[in-house]
Amino acid sequence: MTLIATDIRVSLSDAPVLHGVGFRAEPGEVTAIVGPNGSGKTTLLRAMTQDLPYTGQIRLDGEDIARLPGWRLAGRRAVLPQASRIAFPFTALEIVRLGQMAAAGPAPERRASEALERVGLAGFEGRFYQELSGGEQSRVQLARVLAQVWEPVGRDGPRWLFLDEPVASLDIGHQLEVMDLLADYAARGGGVVAIMHDLNLTAIYADRVALLDAGRVAAQGTPAEVLTDATLSGAYGCPLRVNAAPAPPATFLLPHMARRPGRTRHQRGDSPCISQ
Ligand SMILES: Nc1ncnc2c1ncn2[C@@H]1O[C@H](COP(=O)(O)OP(=O)(O)OP(=O)(O)O)[C@@H](O)[C@H]1O
Ligand SMILES: [Mg+2]
Repeated sequence: MTLIATDIRVSLSDAPVLHGVGFRAEPGEVTAIVGPNGSGKTTLLRAMTQDLPYTGQIRLDGEDIARLPGWRLAGRRAVLPQASRIAFPFTALEIVRLGQMAAAGPAPERRASEALERVGLAGFEGRFYQELSGGEQSRVQLARVLAQVWEPVGRDGPRWLFLDEPVASLDIGHQLEVMDLLADYAARGGGVVAIMHDLNLTAIYADRVALLDAGRVAAQGTPAEVLTDATLSGAYGCPLRVNAAPAPPATFLLPHMARRPGRTRHQRGDSPCISQ
């Protein structure tokens, strides 16, 4: 019942982007993929969703996904891309219903409204997508994905959410709401694979973490195993410190701040995360 990617290699425009990535995710867990910009996170997700050519093998619950027909994949996993552009004047409800066209289920209209409600957009059914804020659009897309694989476990096994930065454009309250929703999907037996930039939310919500760096897996395991000072500072190229809050017990990360008295790095116009 596992998602296992073995030795995934991808080249884009003749340049190698993924150099033999091994990745594993279990249903019942939230698995976060983290790593710097350009490290290959989206490319890995696009390989796992059969969106670009790769070598290696990706097995979903024992089956090679390259051999699964599209209609069966659509019933077992739903995909939230990093960016979704909609060219036509669809309403929020119509966007959510697009997910249901990929995989039919009972009571589609009611479920679509429920999906909007779950992402905090009750009453938005008739609103035009183009007239929504960036965060609202992002949550409509999440509702579309949810509506596609509504029940975390189906007759043919666990279902999966593959999400590329699901909380990137959300405020802190909606970030927590969406992460709670994903944790709940996993707790009810579904699989969640989410690309994340927020390492603090990753520390709180992820059961497993894969850290990509320059097209390779730099570390993979529990948050405690992966989110360490040395591993993160090495991958992101800036000094980071992992801390423990006593009550309630939680892990959190802080960047090292300016170290020159009277002259912060910020004031100098550079970033502590960008090597000079
Ligand atoms: N079509 C393409 N042709 C050539 N190179 C590409 C193409 N698409 C992506 N790349 C390169 O592949 C690398 C990995 O890109 P990818 O989108 O997977 O990064 P990412 O880890 O998702 O980054 P981000 O955090 O910025 O979303 C980057 O260096 C990018 O410039
Ligand atoms: Mg990306």
